[in-house]
Amino acid sequence: MSCILIKEFNNHYKMKEAIYQHLKDVDSYTINNSAELEEFRLKYLSKKGILQQLFESFRTIPNEEKKEIGKLINELKQKVEGKFSEIQSKLEADSTENTAIDYTLTPVSMKLGTRHPLSQVRNEITSIFKTLGFTISEGPEIEDDWHVFSALNFAEEHPARDMQDTFFIEKNPDILLRTHTSSVQIRAMETQKPPLRIIMPGRVFRNEAISYRAHCIFHQIEGLYIDKNVSFADLKQTLLYFAKELFGADTKIRLRPSYFPFTEPSAEMDVSCSICKGKGCNVCKHSGWLEILGCGMVDPNVLANCGIDPNVYTGYAFGMGIERITMLKYAVKDLRMYFENDLRFLNQF
Ligand code: PHE
Repeated sequence: MSCILIKEFNNHYKMKEAIYQHLKDVDSYTINNSAELEEFRLKYLSKKGILQQLFESFRTIPNEEKKEIGKLINELKQKVEGKFSEIQSKLEADSTENTAIDYTLTPVSMKLGTRHPLSQVRNEITSIFKTLGFTISEGPEIEDDWHVFSALNFAEEHPARDMQDTFFIEKNPDILLRTHTSSVQIRAMETQKPPLRIIMPGRVFRNEAISYRAHCIFHQIEGLYIDKNVSFADLKQTLLYFAKELFGADTKIRLRPSYFPFTEPSAEMDVSCSICKGKGCNVCKHSGWLEILGCGMVDPNVLANCGIDPNVYTGYAFGMGIERITMLKYAVKDLRMYFENDLRFLNQF
């Protein structure tokens, strides 16, 4: 780049030419780092720099030329200062960008989600039965009449076969949304030979009005054990072990006679209230007991329906609602909360 010394000006024409040249030079001047920026500053903006020299020479030119040359010098000054501050802020931004990554900093921990409370309780229940040698089995949510009702010994006129209670997809032959996971019992017994020891979690559907204690979609876990010489005592001991594992070692159980078409005898099981420890509270309605499941010995008709000889084999079955158990375990007052995806609720689990 040519550098024209002001001292050499012998007339204003030469000075004008020099300023035009400087204007061009500033335009094409490349600056890549702060050292080069400093060089640029020294060359144009310092006390001995080109602009200062131009201002000094300016005093010596004839008055009638001052207007034009003054304008040009100002133009050059603005160009130089503009370029200087533009590049200065660009370099500053680059350097903060580089220092923004500090590889020695402890990483900000990622917020991991958690499993839904219903999944947590389902997993807890299935793992208790896994330790007893049960395996997991699943079946379809859309079922036929045979697997949900007929094979399970439901009488023709049973109210569950009514549209009021069951969601039908098709009528004659009936295709419906399963109302309980007992349908998976049938599928297991039809396809596997005893001994059978399975646990069957799944989603079920009932045509019910939604309220704080009922929903048309909910989750069940079914258990089934078929072998030679299985007795009611086996059922009772298994359920006692399960209740102690799930609700705590001091939990008591009681069995009340009940009725299900597919078990005989049938019972409903209560556990001592884990919230008030049996003293009586709002959750157990001051009875000290909470009903958590239905159970019984598999009806011989059901075994026969599935091709298992009831004279050789006996078995027990039980079924429970996961929503209800989760409500009792965590004192959840309204089961609609499970389906609302409200993080204020879910974060508590
Ligand atoms: N299927 C029954 C229900 O949905 C529960 C149950 C399962 C009862 C197995 C006895 C044996 O209420």
